[in-house]
Amino acid sequence: MASNEFQPLQGMSDIHAPEINLWRMIEERARTLFSCYGYEELRTPVLEKLSVFKRSIGDTTDVVQKEMYAFTDRGGRELALCPEGTAGTIRHLAGRGEEGLNARVFYIAPMFRCERPQAGRKRQFHQVGVEATGEPNPLADAECIALQQHLLEAWGLTGSKIQISTRGTLSDRQPVADGLRKALQPHLNELCEDCQRRIDENVLRVIDCKNEGCAKIVDRIPPAIEFMAEESRHYLDSVIHALGKMGIEVEVNPRLVRGLDYYVHTVWEITHGALGAQNAIAGGGRYEIALGKKAIPGVGFAMGIERVITSLEACGVTAEQFTPKGGVWLVSLGEEALAENMKLARELREKGIRCGMELGPKSMKAQMRKANREGAEKVIIRGGDELAKGTAIVKDMEEGSQETQNLADLEFRYLKLGF
Ligand code: HAM
Repeated sequence: MASNEFQPLQGMSDIHAPEINLWRMIEERARTLFSCYGYEELRTPVLEKLSVFKRSIGDTTDVVQKEMYAFTDRGGRELALCPEGTAGTIRHLAGRGEEGLNARVFYIAPMFRCERPQAGRKRQFHQVGVEATGEPNPLADAECIALQQHLLEAWGLTGSKIQISTRGTLSDRQPVADGLRKALQPHLNELCEDCQRRIDENVLRVIDCKNEGCAKIVDRIPPAIEFMAEESRHYLDSVIHALGKMGIEVEVNPRLVRGLDYYVHTVWEITHGALGAQNAIAGGGRYEIALGKKAIPGVGFAMGIERVITSLEACGVTAEQFTPKGGVWLVSLGEEALAENMKLARELREKGIRCGMELGPKSMKAQMRKANREGAEKVIIRGGDELAKGTAIVKDMEEGSQETQNLADLEFRYLKLGF
């Protein structure tokens, strides 16, 4: 059997110990913080109708056109694996009527994009995200960015930067498209093939093009914000002002448009210097998504956990710091001691004490070696003698000292162990 028979698909990973301990920390702290801000968890299926993504993210975006795992199932239904979490969340909230129009939900889930894998770009990756529905309000956008900032701090991440911009209102779309098209027209032949098509189809995607030649032209034309109404610029100023009041600094990047079409008003991205070309750890913004008759307004963000981990490691936060260790190791000398230690292990675990033991006969040396490997703080040794006297030898692994103690003494069992 070829060795890659045991590997996951390209661009996908098994997540296991010790790294999984960093994932757990990230997820646990996110859940705790989201709860402080009044968000409830939502778990939607990884598979949705293709139309959910086409109608929300936009038919002409790269995510929909080039990156989705879309297929027709045996029943002839057009489906796709979720490439992001906002569309499925809004599909769910749209079904909850009035309640869905004023909701706060968060998700921690795998996402799928069939991109060319490279450092920081995977085909299955994981997002921690939130969505808060409700009418546009700069304070809601500012609170969302503040929550994101708070989360980065809770994880111990330093050195990230927030870039912010605006996509304007729905009524800005036409003047922005007209203005950008006019400015790009003289450079039409210098644009990449995709952008020559995009200029008519969805001109904002030209602004977002990663091609170096296109980026140079985009740098020379006025940013989209210049074609927007005063009201839209004012909205962005209000968001920045509210953030300033909370001591959160942002950098305005008028060329930031984001690659998803549902955005209106505020958009932002968080970058970190430890990442290479794929330097965004998070993206977010305000949006309006119409899956039913009525558009649902909301604001949210998503952070890529894999990229957060790369950035955390660069800040000296490692999986090792969150790997469970310590506790008690029970050493059994003889079959009877083994059975008695099973009982003791159960009692200790009931008290929430991390406790391990070998389940078969092993030499004392082998058992002590295992206790060491497991990082046990105390080792409790029992054989025929100790069982007869109702005692145990307790060894402190750090100090190397040991003493015989009376097992019947509860204080010894649960308090003197130091847990
Ligand atoms: P996004 O910018 O497409 O936004 O993705 C958010 C984050 O997911 C990125 O900043 C990045 O950290 C991570 N990410 C995206 N693609 C990949 C990939 N191929 N490999 C590894 N990580 C990746 C959204 O998904 C929006 N739904 C965010 C949002 C929520 N806007 C409003 N609400």
